[in-house]
Amino acid sequence: MQIEVISNSVEQTKKIAKSYAQSIKSPVVISLVGDLGAGKTTFTKGFCEGLGIKDLVTSPTFTIMNEYTGGRFTVYHFDMYRLSNKEEALELGFDEYFDLRKLKGICIVEWAENVKGLLPALYVEINLIKINENSRKIQIGVKGWVG
Ligand SMILES: Nc1ncnc2c1ncn2[C@@H]1O[C@H](COP(=O)(O)OP(=O)(O)O)[C@@H](O)[C@H]1O
Ligand SMILES: [Mg+2]
Repeated sequence: MQIEVISNSVEQTKKIAKSYAQSIKSPVVISLVGDLGAGKTTFTKGFCEGLGIKDLVTSPTFTIMNEYTGGRFTVYHFDMYRLSNKEEALELGFDEYFDLRKLKGICIVEWAENVKGLLPALYVEINLIKINENSRKIQIGVKGWVG
């Protein structure tokens, strides 16, 4: 099942993310897919707000992972833009975050396609597609194999 919504502003994207966060359960890994400037970090800001996190959420481009506590669940916000494969993520000790038996909280990951094979067998994929300067198509669905 996939849901699709259109956002016509930054505020709307945050609002969609906020209401999505209000119904989410843990542990879960969320992959955010979209070009540079599609709104992945903007979505994460609204998502954290929806969990009740008060911290300022910024892009973890240089730190690769930012951790946010104080909300309903701890959020591990990753940006894999600077990594080129799964092994690099494992060298940084990130394997524990992507094992659903060990994860306590929620992983939200930008550029997960750079670290293929790191995500668990089942995860949420959110696609952000730029329609024009201020509009984005947002698709939310479950990905992976359940058997
Ligand atoms: N509807 C929208 N939703 C999200 N961002 C939007 C929207 N319309 C315009 N923008 C702009 O797109 C950019 C999104 O940036 P950001 O969230 O950092 O993207 P990403 O993390 O995908 O690179 C911002 O400059 C923001 O102002
Ligand atoms: Mg970003």
